[in-house]
Amino acid sequence: MSMNYKLSALAGKIIAIDGPAGSGKSTTARLLASKIGYTFLDTGAMYRVVAWVALKKGLSVDDGESLEMISRQVEISFEMDGDINRVFLFGKEMTDEIRTPEVTKAVSPVSVHAGVRTALVKRQREMAKNGSVVAEGRDTTSVVFPDADLKIYLDASIEERARRRLLELARKGISTTFEELKREIYDRDKRDSKRENSPLTKTADAVVIDTTSLTIEAQVERIIRLIKARILNA
Ligand code: DC
Repeated sequence: MSMNYKLSALAGKIIAIDGPAGSGKSTTARLLASKIGYTFLDTGAMYRVVAWVALKKGLSVDDGESLEMISRQVEISFEMDGDINRVFLFGKEMTDEIRTPEVTKAVSPVSVHAGVRTALVKRQREMAKNGSVVAEGRDTTSVVFPDADLKIYLDASIEERARRRLLELARKGISTTFEELKREIYDRDKRDSKRENSPLTKTADAVVIDTTSLTIEAQVERIIRLIKARILNA
């Protein structure tokens, strides 16, 4: 049986990928999804949209009640366009707006609120109800899809993650320093891992991949091998 035949037999499953900021989750999940013909579910983008709306409305990131209301009301959709996962809020494109340093700073405190999480997790499950989804975030392996068919935890050293962010921001013309990014990532890791509601966790059944010295292609290849071995029994 050819590899392609095997991969084409892969319908309706859920693959969940979690990990800290800069571990390569988004790029890996997006590439994997396009390789196996799955939909990419970027859960972080949904928290970012809520943070963007909060900033736009001048709300405090501590105002859980208003943030919950926003999370229930927003209509978020995605559209794959080649290498880019376009993000829409009520049909208006928000792809770049949700990746600014301001939103990145606000999103972690926004995502601690239980009401925000409940509303967004509900949407994430609805979006994945027919399966054939690669989901990525902080709690997709633990809370959103505890029964996922394959769970991956991507990790990398903080230096490597800061270096990747620096390159990513430089490509967008945003200048910052390595030390500043390292501190921001450290703070965000701490907040995302120590929070009371759905902290970033390595579940016992997740396969841990350290991406510090791996290319994106190698990460995707590794996951495809795991899919073959664990889901397709190939
Ligand atoms: O992956 P990202 O950088 O786009 O995520 C942005 C923030 O959203 C991250 O700091 C924590 C939060 N987040 C979350 O709490 N749960 C998720 N499933 C995904 C992201």
